[in-house]
Amino acid sequence: MKPLLIAGNWKSNKGIAEAKEWVRQFNAKCQMLNAKWDHITVVLCVPFTLVYPLKREISQLRLPVQLGAQDVSPFGEGAYTGEVSATQIKELADWVIIGHSERRKYFGETDEVLMQKVAQAKAAGLKIIFCVPDDKTPIPADVDVAAYEPVWAIGTGYADTPENAATVIATLKQKFSIRQVLYGGSVTAENVVSFVAQPAIDGVLPGGASLDAAKFFDLLTAAQSIP
Ligand code: PGA
Repeated sequence: MKPLLIAGNWKSNKGIAEAKEWVRQFNAKCQMLNAKWDHITVVLCVPFTLVYPLKREISQLRLPVQLGAQDVSPFGEGAYTGEVSATQIKELADWVIIGHSERRKYFGETDEVLMQKVAQAKAAGLKIIFCVPDDKTPIPADVDVAAYEPVWAIGTGYADTPENAATVIATLKQKFSIRQVLYGGSVTAENVVSFVAQPAIDGVLPGGASLDAAKFFDLLTAAQSIP
């Protein structure tokens, strides 16, 4: 079976009570259906405020879910008001998303800043999911996993075609010598198989479809079904 990475991106959604309820519902589904994601690495990338409460819930229930942050400071620890450093994140989570198009658009993150973020995350031992909107945007050398996310497909309900996503991803792999590349942009339980069935696509990065525990569970179950 092909190993897959499926990383839910909660963006700026949910308070602590809602996050705990998500875990309760997700766990209930897993128990009821005796679900095991043998060849899927499941990651939830959540707001900073939720990382600690979710870490506790997930480890108590022994859920096969790893945690990630959605951003990281380009600096180390120190006088950088409002920033969360890579070493602080690494105490609680294993993954971080860097370069999401919403960070590039609303927070003016440039390729240069993103390189600094990658360096900080790498030095702290975080695994990086680096997002790019096309096959022209550079991917820094230290990145473990990239995600192709066309801006027009994010949150719109109009996903790219699996064939085009696979072509862009194959180009990214060749151009930047990167082994694992995900597709993101309106991925759902209904269309996930069409993406992960493409040999070039190593997983998906669902946003909206990760907010509801049952929908996310269904998405994982569907992805699990590919040979
Ligand atoms: P979406 O978001 O699945 O809601 O389109 C994906 C993303 O922004 O990572």
